[in-house]
Amino acid sequence: MNKPTEKSPNTVWHRATVTRQRRQQKNTHKSVVLWFTGLSGSGKSTLAHAVEEHLHQNGLHTFVLDGDNVRHGLCSDLGFSDKDRKENIRRISETAKLLLEAGVITLTAFISPFKAERAIARSLMPHGDFIEIYCYCPLPICEQRDVKGLYKKARQGEIKDFTGISSPYEEPENPELKIDTSQLSLEQSIQQVMSLLRARNILSVQE
Ligand code: ADX
Repeated sequence: MNKPTEKSPNTVWHRATVTRQRRQQKNTHKSVVLWFTGLSGSGKSTLAHAVEEHLHQNGLHTFVLDGDNVRHGLCSDLGFSDKDRKENIRRISETAKLLLEAGVITLTAFISPFKAERAIARSLMPHGDFIEIYCYCPLPICEQRDVKGLYKKARQGEIKDFTGISSPYEEPENPELKIDTSQLSLEQSIQQVMSLLRARNILSVQE
């Protein structure tokens, strides 16, 4: 995992003395990556931020990587072609991995439409530290919500490669959690995530 790459062969991994384990001990909770995936308008960002708010109020260390926000900075050079989306998810996966090492409960809210890229993201993290949460919402309902007015533009051909309309979304087959945001309230959805975190003993450092 920590081998030098082809493009920078003359690099040597420096082992930190302040480890993830020590950070977790100090934080009194474990770190984990909660990877929210789903169509635009399915409620990923809303749910990720609401879960973060809940955790933060309870004294836990958190950070949300949000699709729209990250595209204002780290990924501002990327568009929505398949190639750019892959690169977007690659950068986010690596960033999430760094935050995991930093002892932070990391919540990512990206469409992340391709199974292969989500599988790569999962493979970067130690087993059990990547929790895929599928925010399921039927396309007609996302389109009806059209919070940002983007579906309308996509239907009119003003936005190309729009997920669900002119670009594919590959549904997760085995997510750790599937939340039907068309049926559940925000509060119920938060509770589903919290139950999963409790069941996995993430909210404390004890095994
Ligand atoms: S991803 O496919 O690369 O994971 P990401 O989550 O970063 O996408 O960005 C999605 C957000 O960008 C959407 O919520 C929407 O607001 C906006 N957006 C702009 N153009 C598109 C497009 N062609 N397809 C999907 N979302 C788009």
